[in-house]
Amino acid sequence: MHFHKYEKIWLVFGLVSLILFLSIVGVSAFSHGHTPSGGMDTIDPKKVNETAPFDKPGVTQLDDDTYQVAIVALAFGYNAPELKVPAGKEIIFKVTSTDVVHSFTIDNTKVNMMVVPGQITTKSYTFDKPGKYLILCNEYCGAGHHLMSTEIEVY
Ligand code: CUA
Repeated sequence: MHFHKYEKIWLVFGLVSLILFLSIVGVSAFSHGHTPSGGMDTIDPKKVNETAPFDKPGVTQLDDDTYQVAIVALAFGYNAPELKVPAGKEIIFKVTSTDVVHSFTIDNTKVNMMVVPGQITTKSYTFDKPGKYLILCNEYCGAGHHLMSTEIEVY
């Protein structure tokens, strides 16, 4: 009789740990799905050119202290006309790709974003010093990878 009682306790204990384990796994899977790393939004990579803000790439002033810069990365360049932004203001970069994975890396800054088709990568940055900054791709993306660069002017 005692033997059966203990067996029951262990059975219940086993079930409780199983449920606990499953709910922990479930909760972490759930939160992963709802907080993509790096604050990314999704976009249809085939409709980039007709989806705001990428339908009009370049610099847009949002308010006195904030500018948005929309850039489309593609093999092998950046669709980012006339990149001129002021120093000391918040610049919000929004970048996406129409083909493969690239990066959006501004030399001598902390801006180093992975650019993935289907996703909008956002990064806020404030330039301290005026000057011309080189933008380049440091994710290997094909034969023209080393040609992929542009420039941003900070005034
Ligand atoms: Cu784009 Cu390397």
